[in-house]
Amino acid sequence: MRFKLPLGDRYYDYHILREIAFLVYPLSYWRHSLIREFLKFASTFKYVPDNILEVGCGNGFFTKILSYRFPQSLITSIDTSPKSIAHAQKRRLTNVTFKKQNFFDMTGKYDLIVSLHVFILLDPDNAFLKVRNLLAKRGVAFITYSGKTVFTELHRRFYKVVVGDEIEFKNRQKLIDKAKESGLLPEVIEINSGEGSFALILKRLDNGQNSKEV
Ligand SMILES: C[S@@+](CC[C@H](N)C(=O)[O-])C[C@H]1O[C@@H](n2cnc3c(N)ncnc32)[C@H](O)[C@@H]1O
Repeated sequence: MRFKLPLGDRYYDYHILREIAFLVYPLSYWRHSLIREFLKFASTFKYVPDNILEVGCGNGFFTKILSYRFPQSLITSIDTSPKSIAHAQKRRLTNVTFKKQNFFDMTGKYDLIVSLHVFILLDPDNAFLKVRNLLAKRGVAFITYSGKTVFTELHRRFYKVVVGDEIEFKNRQKLIDKAKESGLLPEVIEINSGEGSFALILKRLDNGQNSKEV
């Protein structure tokens, strides 16, 4: 029998719970590591990305950082949870449009796609193909995952009870292989050993000088 708390599938709608969770060490430390590595990665940019897509923005915690880091960019931050979007909109970030939208229904081209700990929930085949289609020719994606450690195993058990979903740990090498099969060039950045977290930096394989598409 599957035990499920009343919180169940609406976990993402309970923002107070999520905000309190991030006050707890080591979750706050892991979060800080993600931000630090993203800012390091962003410091290597040779141009300002015109259009940025954030996938699974949740309550907009990271959107705020994106907005401050790239004040001249147009940022689209999406999430499937309407309550997450309503909460994120309260942040009043002038260069951000928050939308209740499924990533797989997105259209357009983006110079930067960012997603923190959302692709752990998505099927990698479809997700990488979608990233490939949404990336502008010179575009780049920063996608983070958590890995299997003692701490994250405990966290996923908690998640299973509270949210009701079982999330399998993704095999890093398989993700790399799938990204390549989807026409992407992957590179790995290690983030935090306690969380086993890492980012996949994805560029289009056909971003060379001879390609005509923009
Ligand atoms: C683990 S939370 C991460 C939230 C946020 N990125 C953060 O780091 O705090 C995953 C989020 O992804 C959203 N999500 C899941 N599947 C999605 C999809 N296909 N399209 C857009 N958002 C999605 C969920 O509603 C949830 O808010």
